[in-house]
Amino acid sequence: MQSPVQQQRLIELDISQPVWDRFFWVAPLVLVGTREADGSHDLAPKHMATPIGWENYFGFVCTPRHHTYSNIRRDGVFTVTYPRPDQLVLTSLAASPRCEGDDKLALSVLPVFPAKKVDGVLVAGGYMYLECELDRMIDGFGVNSLIIGRVVAARVAEDSLRIHEGDDQALIHNAPLLAYLHPGRFAAIEESLTFPFPAGMKK
Ligand SMILES: Cc1cc2nc3c(=O)[nH]c(=O)nc-3n(C[C@H](O)[C@H](O)[C@H](O)COP(=O)(O)O)c2cc1C
Repeated sequence: MQSPVQQQRLIELDISQPVWDRFFWVAPLVLVGTREADGSHDLAPKHMATPIGWENYFGFVCTPRHHTYSNIRRDGVFTVTYPRPDQLVLTSLAASPRCEGDDKLALSVLPVFPAKKVDGVLVAGGYMYLECELDRMIDGFGVNSLIIGRVVAARVAEDSLRIHEGDDQALIHNAPLLAYLHPGRFAAIEESLTFPFPAGMKK
């Protein structure tokens, strides 16, 4: 009998092209907020976004072509909103193309409120909010850059806050999470199971 490893046919991918559209992978979807040069606010969805390590650093990938990049380079701050699944369309609209005059008119339909510690806005109705000061920008990953901020303020909606010895399964069921399945799909996560960590595992 063949082992599962022998049975599975592997397809070699052409690494002269980006490989990331050839299969699905799971990502978060956040809205990064910045201040435009004219004083208005900007919001843009990002899925290549993650905590950077176990301390309070947050990073995301951005191209220098985007206003988000130049705004952060100028002001040194940004905000992060984690939207809920019912905010999917609003989140996507924040990627609308700019019209003449370089405005992103779709932003007017996203309800916002001011950040506390940095100059910027957050999107109302999200479940988690970060306010970040720029730590560093690292250019040169092809056409992309990594933008890393130090978290200087963080707030969680009451229905999404984990409590010690709380029922985590019920928490996620009652306040579902939004996942972006690159390329071009999404999922609302309502069901979850405890992760089977190996006995004695250390971080
Ligand atoms: C679902 C989704 C995910 C995205 N993820 C990223 C990302 O991780 N990095 C990035 O640079 N752009 C990403 N974009 C594209 C930009 O956020 C988008 O083009 C935005 O309008 C740029 O706005 P700005 O010029 O105001 O910064 C994504 C767009 C969508 C719809």
